[in-house]
Amino acid sequence: MSPFTVTRTLPADATAAALRADVADGLTSTPKQLPPKWFYDARGSALFEEITRLPEYYPTRAEREILIARAAEIADATGARTLVELGSGSSEKTRHLIRALPDLRVYVPVDVSESALELAGEALLAEHPRLTVHALVADFMNGLALPDDTPGPRLLAFLGGTIGNLLPAERAAFYASVSDLLAPGDALLVGTDLVKDEATLVSAYDDAQGVTAAFNKNVLAVLDRELGADFDPSDFDHVAVWNAEEEWIEMRLRARKDLTAKIPAMDLAVHFEAGEEVRTEVSSKFREEKVRAELAAAGMDARRWWTDAQGRFAVSLAVRR
Ligand code: AVJ
Repeated sequence: MSPFTVTRTLPADATAAALRADVADGLTSTPKQLPPKWFYDARGSALFEEITRLPEYYPTRAEREILIARAAEIADATGARTLVELGSGSSEKTRHLIRALPDLRVYVPVDVSESALELAGEALLAEHPRLTVHALVADFMNGLALPDDTPGPRLLAFLGGTIGNLLPAERAAFYASVSDLLAPGDALLVGTDLVKDEATLVSAYDDAQGVTAAFNKNVLAVLDRELGADFDPSDFDHVAVWNAEEEWIEMRLRARKDLTAKIPAMDLAVHFEAGEEVRTEVSSKFREEKVRAELAAAGMDARRWWTDAQGRFAVSLAVRR
């Protein structure tokens, strides 16, 4: 087998159909909502990269600190021969891990962006010529199957705190499907942002330079381009609030005036009253006990819990029973 293959398990038009379905549901319900996955077109992905370098946005740096400090322990504890990474993007986060895994033979990056997978796959192969890279273009929330040759023990990584984007029921379904994918003794490595003081959390999602505001409003530009909608992003304000009951940050877009947006591709007109909001993202923050309990409920035993020196973010290692 050639060292680099790409398998597309997403039909070419699946993304367009999913966007329409999400807009049809989310913008006709009360309150209005849109799933965060639609932020990430080329501009949104570039804005997110910029967010990861903002002084207020600590999660990326905190997780990197943990992965660098703990890579050897992760390698020791897992002995992984296959690494599967969900939402791999540029594979930046896993580079340290890959270097530290002496027995690694197969790397399976999974992402919805084929271009990101190709770039990352080539860079990794240049550094690790003996690695087989089997990239999957897939939406891991909708059923994931591993390629044929993934020798165990396997390590499945879901980093960056992206698990926080899932609502509790979605998170339970996600952990259950990960557990199904793994064999006993295989491991899950998951990054979770942690509950902390409200001011730190809110400023991480409402930075002084307005990069997060631009990222949030970008979803409207995506609807304009993909669906011919006529949203003017400047008609909306960026809102980031801490929901203390649910222990998550919510990002919203708030209409600055009464307006009606036309979405011709869907024969839809969406009315906003002045001040009305659409929820565009939930980013859950966690506590150790809850992470452990949710993993256990899905048949995985949390074995290690590592945080950065400031205790802001955690990486957990769990083993499938
Ligand atoms: C990529 C989902 C981890 O929730 O912190 C960053 C996305 N949203 N700033 C997060 C995000 C606003 C990010 N995740």
